[in-house]
Amino acid sequence: MHRNTAVAELTIDETVAAVTGIGDVFRPEHIPVGIPVSGGRPDRKALHDWWIGRAIPASRSGLREALEILRVSSPQFLLTRCYGLSLSDQYWLKPADKPIGWADVNFFDNPFSEDVGNALFGRAPEDAELNLMSPDNTSDGWLKKKWIIADGKRLLLKGGSPPNYQEPLNEVIASAVMRRLGIPHTPYALTWDREQPLSACEDFVTKETDLVSAWHIRVTGNKAGHVSEYRHFLERREALGIPGARESAGRMLTVDFLIANQDRHFNNFGALRDAGTLEWLGLAPVFDCGTSLWYDQNPHMIRPLAEQASKPFRSKHSEQIKLVTDFDWLDFGALDGLDEEYAGILEQSPYIDGARRDALCFALKTRVELLKDIAAEPQPE
Ligand SMILES: Nc1ncnc2c1ncn2[C@@H]1O[C@H](COP(=O)(O)OP(=O)(O)OP(=O)(O)O)[C@@H](O)[C@H]1O
Ligand SMILES: [Mg+2]
Repeated sequence: MHRNTAVAELTIDETVAAVTGIGDVFRPEHIPVGIPVSGGRPDRKALHDWWIGRAIPASRSGLREALEILRVSSPQFLLTRCYGLSLSDQYWLKPADKPIGWADVNFFDNPFSEDVGNALFGRAPEDAELNLMSPDNTSDGWLKKKWIIADGKRLLLKGGSPPNYQEPLNEVIASAVMRRLGIPHTPYALTWDREQPLSACEDFVTKETDLVSAWHIRVTGNKAGHVSEYRHFLERREALGIPGARESAGRMLTVDFLIANQDRHFNNFGALRDAGTLEWLGLAPVFDCGTSLWYDQNPHMIRPLAEQASKPFRSKHSEQIKLVTDFDWLDFGALDGLDEEYAGILEQSPYIDGARRDALCFALKTRVELLKDIAAEPQPE
């Protein structure tokens, strides 16, 4: 199902969490982006991989403990417990024998249990009875995270990694960079839970939209060997008709350069589309910037002028930034005092001492200066 639209009949073997068969296909145009469709029928293996790929990844921090609390052997078995529903798109599986509709079950309108989210943070429920109806069953990424409802809004709370727990603080300063530069972004705020810093951001998907990852956009066509990853991505967005994607990607890569983001893989950006009309709306507001700013390095390794590893189009930031051909939009004056704002954020955390804070603030300021030099060079057409 795609909201209320029946897309295709599937057979799921719940004992192995597998898509074992595809029956009638009603609306092939609604088949998830990136799954090959031939003669109006989706590729079963690709559809199976897509379904399994909705589950919490094996790399999720604390997953083993969570599965013990939840008494399931694999995160894939959680998928059918929430009909495969997510807070990042509108796909779900409706059991053939259950008279339920989208309105009855979607997580945008209906409350959900925090049992899975709490288990992912290592907490067993007070109640022996577990409620597995949760959008956390279909959440991606390696950091601990859970969805909550606060003042009627769906918020994603996300932790950091020891010993610095710096990722949530980085999300906040990255939001500040983008706020200052006028780049569409997902604003993250800092919150605390049992002395652990967490970032909190609102769901940027609504019940009318789907987030489609750049990965799924990328695989809508084969990349020829001589074509670069960046060119291939731009060609795919052109073929699909995603508006403004070159401009948005340039801004994202610029921010990534500034904060020395190491982890902009193809699932850390994507595009939004209308889930009803299937019309593309543009790239999603920039999200997931936490794996940056030397989050896992000792203070003496915080070297802003050294080469920094990058993703996804080039492996070095010094090369990746060359893909950005226009910096006219970049107002360096708006970044004045950014290091002081970062210091104010870092000061809030007992995990960051003064030496680390000073090194990080100096490094961020130096990245701004470095970018100034790059932006002053003549840009290729
Ligand atoms: N605000 C949001 N609204 C809707 N979906 C979101 C939002 N934030 C994240 N997501 C979805 O959840 C996934 C995981 O979130 P995120 O990338 O922030 O986690 P992560 O653990 O930092 O990931 P990684 O493994 O890349 O470090 C994203 O890839 C995206 O699909
Ligand atoms: Mg991510």
